[in-house]
Formats: sequence, C-alpha cells, structure tokens
Amino acid sequence: MAQEVRGVIAPGKNQPVRVETIVVPDPGPGEAVVKVQACGVCHTDLHYKQGGINDDFPFLLGHEAAGVVEAVGDGVSEVAPGDFVILNWRAVCGQCRACLRGRPQYCFATHNAKQKMTLTDGTELSPALGIGAFAEKTLVAAGQCTKVDPAVSPAVAGLLGCGVMAGIGAAINTGRVGRGDSVAVIGCGGVGDAAIAGSRLAGAARIIAVDIDDRKLQTALTMGATHTVNSRTTDPVEAIRELTGGFGADVVIEAVGRPETYEQAFYARDLAGTVVLVGVPTPEMKLELPLLDVFGRGGALKSSWYGDCLPSRDFPMLVDLHLQGRLDLAAFVTETIGLGDVEKAFERMHEGDVLRSVVVF
Ligand code: APR
Ligand code: ZN
Ligand code: ZN
Repeated sequence: MAQEVRGVIAPGKNQPVRVETIVVPDPGPGEAVVKVQACGVCHTDLHYKQGGINDDFPFLLGHEAAGVVEAVGDGVSEVAPGDFVILNWRAVCGQCRACLRGRPQYCFATHNAKQKMTLTDGTELSPALGIGAFAEKTLVAAGQCTKVDPAVSPAVAGLLGCGVMAGIGAAINTGRVGRGDSVAVIGCGGVGDAAIAGSRLAGAARIIAVDIDDRKLQTALTMGATHTVNSRTTDPVEAIRELTGGFGADVVIEAVGRPETYEQAFYARDLAGTVVLVGVPTPEMKLELPLLDVFGRGGALKSSWYGDCLPSRDFPMLVDLHLQGRLDLAAFVTETIGLGDVEKAFERMHEGDVLRSVVVF
C-alpha cells in the first residue's frame, strides 16, 4: 500500500521550501523504497529551488542520503529489505554505448524509479537528481541503492552520495592523483576539501589549498592541505608555481566553477599537468584563453561529473577506508538538523562556515 510520509518540497521558483505530506507508492519492478536516515543539504538542492536546473516544479529535494531498504519490487536482486545503503544518482544501465565500451561512469541512460511520488492531491513530484531524500521514505530504482558497511554513521555515509564523492573522485578518479604528486585545489568548500582529502588518501606529497576565505583555508589544513594561499591577497598562480619548484602542480582541481578560477588552474599546472574542473559553472559563463597557450602544454584538461565515480566500486571502498580511520568523512558534517530546517540551511550556505548541514531522521 502507498504510504504517506513527510518530505521537503520546493513549490515554485525561489519560493521557500516547506515540509508537506507526500505519497510514496509501493515499489514496482526494479524499484525500492528506502527509509531515509540522513540526507545532506547540497548546492544542487538550492539550484533546484531557484529554478536553475529546470522548471519541473514541485521538486522533492534532497539527494545526499543514506538509509535502510524497506521494500523492493519484482525482479530486484541487488538489494533486500534491511540493507543499509547510500543512494546514488548514477545507477548505470549496462547497455548504452558508454557502458558497453567499459566506461560506465559516462552512462547516459542511468536508472531512476519509474513511478512518481506525489502530493496528497495527486500532483506529481520531481525528485532532485532522481532521488528526493529530504523525506522519511523515498522511492528509487534499486540500482540507486549501494550497499555499504552498516557500521558507518548514516550522516557521514550519505555525503558520499554526492558532494564528497564528487571531490574525492575529482582527485582519485579524474585527476588520477598518485603518490608523490603535487596538487592544488582552488575553492575549499565541501567539494574542494573532499578533493584535498582524496589527494591525501592517494599519497600526494604536496597539497596546496587556495581560497579567498581564511576560515576555509584553516579547515583545508585539517583535511590534509600542506600549504594554503589566500587568492584575495596573493596571486595564486605565482604562489603555486613557487611552491612547486617553479613548475606548477601536477594536478590542479578547480572546485569553484568560475572562468577566473579556471584560468588560474590552467596556468598553475605543470607543463604536463592535469586540470580537473569539478566546480559547476552557470550557463552564461564563458572562458577565453590564448589558443597558443592551450597548444603549448601537454597534460590534460578534464571535467569531473560526480567524481567519475562508480557507486558500486567507490562507495563501499570509501566507507571501509573511513571505518579504518584513513579518511575522516565525519569532518564534513558541520551540523545535523531536522527536516524543517532546510530553508535555514540554504541561508547558512552563504555564510561560509558550513561544509555540510545534514538532515537526520
Ligand atoms: N577563488 C577561490 N575560492 C573561491 C572563489 C574564488 N574566486 N570564489 C569562491 N571561492 C571559494 C569559497 O570561499 C568557498 O570556500 O570556493 C568555495 C566554494 O565552496 P562551497 O560554496 O561550499 O561549494 P561546494 O559545495 O564546495 O561546491 C563547489 O562544486 O559541485 C560544485 O555546484 C558546486 O560549483 C560548486 C562547487
Ligand atoms: Zn549505460
Ligand atoms: Zn549534490
């Protein structure tokens, strides 16, 4: 039987979000209902609310979540009721061209639930990133549930479902940071800090954190940065070159998503270095670079979408490393809040002292 639970809805462009009763159908074939235990507040949720993603209001927000599978539909074999899972927005299809070429991180037919969750009057909801987890329960495709060790705290585990995975993956998957590498990370919010933590995990020898906010640089040091540069007062390209013997960093990770910071990343890399863009630009932004400078260097200019992650490979591995004490994921949880506090958490995002607010149930 369909269930009624509480969830956070974005009713229309720039309107405050509110908690409403939502209807969660029983799982159909290939689907699962998950009892959500924790869900982080991500910038993408705010972008949905602002109408920056699309106009399919009302949205059921929330997508960085962990919980326990409550029920599964026909044909579901990968998870069972009682499993502790992190929700992902890359349930790969296994059949598209990208999947068949062995590059499932580029899958363009990822699975979401087929049925719709609704308001009590029948209005269909658009779940953020196909998840919608600021809700006591949510309906997803079974492939969106990735089983991990239940010893991890749900508030910590959920963060791997989006922003923290994006940052760690930008370093270890896209940037291929390796032992002894020099890395610079521009923008030390949740994503940039995760890139720093990922670089440390991968054995980077030097990790240079760049931000315009000294508080962010302090936190970056606790995540594994070996040096900091405040780019409001210091030219970051020169500083990064100076800290890398004049060469530039082997990997520069741009975690802001702006043309000027991308340009800094471009010029702060070694001649054969890699730039990874993980910050998300807005549609009107343009990049202008001398083509000769693009030609004049080797290396690679890459973008990282969701950290090029494969949830089935990366989530359990990162949870295990966390449980072994080798990756401090708990440091990303600044505060835990209730379902009714999401609007306030959006406001706090601009204050700059929160890495992640996490709704716990
Ligand atoms: N130079 C350096 N750092 C900057 C600049 C700049 N010009 N502008 C902003 N920053 C810093 C901020 O001070 C902050 O520490 O970038 C950081 C951004 O962090 P958050 O706002 O917390 O964002 P985060 O969640 O880390 O996401 C970063 O990745 O996933 C995308 O949409 C997301 O584009 C965003 C980016
Ligand atoms: Zn595919
Ligand atoms: Zn997100």
